Amino acid sequence: MNFKNEIAKILVGVTNLEFNDIVDSIEVPQNSEMGDFAFPCFKLSKEMKKAPNMIASELAEKIKPNEFIEKIEPVSGYLNFYVNKEFLANVTLKMVIEVGESYGKNEIGKGKTVVIDYSSPNIAKPFHIGHLRATVIGNALYNIYKMQGYNVIGINHLGDWGTQFGKLMVAYKKYSSQEALDKGGIKELVRIYVKFHELAEQDESLNDEARNYLLKMQQGDKDALDLWRYFYDISMIEFNAVYDRLGTKFDYTTGESFYNEMMWPIVEELEAKNLLVESDGAKIVDLEEAKMPPCLILRSDGGTLYPTRDISAAKYRKETFNFDKCLYVTGLEQNLHFAQWFKVIEFMGYDWAKDLTHIPFGMVSLKEGKLSTRAGNVIYMNDLFNEAVEKTRAIIEEKNPDLENKDEVAEAVGLGAVIFNDLYNNRIKDVVFSWERMLSFEGETAPYVQYTHARATSILNKAGNVDFNNIDYSILTDPATNEIIKLLYNYSEKIAEAANKNEPFVITRYLVSLAQAFNKFYHDNPIITEAENVKNARLVVVNSVKNILKSGLALIGIKAPNKM
Ligand code: ARG
Repeated sequence: MNFKNEIAKILVGVTNLEFNDIVDSIEVPQNSEMGDFAFPCFKLSKEMKKAPNMIASELAEKIKPNEFIEKIEPVSGYLNFYVNKEFLANVTLKMVIEVGESYGKNEIGKGKTVVIDYSSPNIAKPFHIGHLRATVIGNALYNIYKMQGYNVIGINHLGDWGTQFGKLMVAYKKYSSQEALDKGGIKELVRIYVKFHELAEQDESLNDEARNYLLKMQQGDKDALDLWRYFYDISMIEFNAVYDRLGTKFDYTTGESFYNEMMWPIVEELEAKNLLVESDGAKIVDLEEAKMPPCLILRSDGGTLYPTRDISAAKYRKETFNFDKCLYVTGLEQNLHFAQWFKVIEFMGYDWAKDLTHIPFGMVSLKEGKLSTRAGNVIYMNDLFNEAVEKTRAIIEEKNPDLENKDEVAEAVGLGAVIFNDLYNNRIKDVVFSWERMLSFEGETAPYVQYTHARATSILNKAGNVDFNNIDYSILTDPATNEIIKLLYNYSEKIAEAANKNEPFVITRYLVSLAQAFNKFYHDNPIITEAENVKNARLVVVNSVKNILKSGLALIGIKAPNKM
């Protein structure tokens, strides 16, 4: 049952508009006092040379209420439709029950492929808090597109090649050892990397040595490559620990080094298409026509660059996956980088340049004082997660000391709080890190949504059996219940909106609204003490809310414990 379609069918009969145009123009008013759906008459007004409110009034006369529309009202140029509440409860809840776990899925993306490039930290450097955002946003988009029926391919484009390795090789030989590195892991790598930079400021010869190592690596020298692999493996231990805790998976972990051999054909292709220009010994693609600084392809020493790897990777992905869209989740500060090389792809004559999209996000600011896990300038994700979990654990100790499996719950809630905080606003907005706000059980947070889910679960456990076959829908028409039903009805549309805008915050906001509506419903409507038919109908609502909260949280990578 799709109300917009039903309303459009009615309007087709009384206007000369096309069905699809009507569907597209129907709005959902912010305020439910303005109806559940509204049709704006402004477009018609031009054509009919009549005032919109006149048209709305005339249409209202012509249309009669039916089994699913209980009232039609013209208000300032809009035709407002009020859905029959009992009917809405009936179709919505039946659907939630019938469809089960797949509720909210649709087939918009059927037969289409979307590649998502996300997380992508740099080997031998710490997993930065910005990479956490890239991971969390990418993971949410992955799940959201899956729900839309797309074939989704997740790629971790690790920064696993480049000058940092030469430096590390020098630093490792001079200031570290296998023993120290095995023991210290990425922290040791960071220590010697920092040390290298300090000393190289005094002693330029260190940089020459580093360049030498890089050259060896590029020439395939076995010793250099063995060391490279060693640093890679050490870093992956740390990264995988982060991914495990977040529940993040990738279909491919193919970093920049994967494209080493594919870059020379790209350089040749650019050359053949007369796009390469020499500039101070380097090779660039001039982008003046597009009002951008040139895109650097080859360094003066012949080394390739970040954009060259991205161009090669994009071509490889198009040839391998034949994507309909390819998304790149990285910080806003890389805007120009993506704009530039997307342009180069276009200049190469590839029409799929239009299918490449940068998904930028804002920074994480630590305005409210330092994070206590900060050691030097580096925040380690596992330390950050541990702090979130410890703080959550302390709250649980206080609120519910007898809870079973406290550790598991604290892990789910602590990490949930961090993830939710990253996804709560428009991506582009900076995220403020505040433990107090993130971990609040009452604010617009993961713990609040998770707590509401646990509450719903506990109500169901106390109540015993719910009869899903005999539901008296006429009970479910009060404003608080109707608000929930409308939200449940809109779930699938919200997921579609999140995908269209590439904005997971549509889901976090939705979950907060649903949790708030549920808590109001529970406050206004007694359940367990009511007569059997009332109790049963309300339990069906509780059950549906519980399932959708869980499903929505899963969509953004957050677990929903049954008890908190
Ligand atoms: N490793 C890069 C960084 O940390 C991000 C890579 C993003 N993906 C890409 N295809 N450029 O800044």
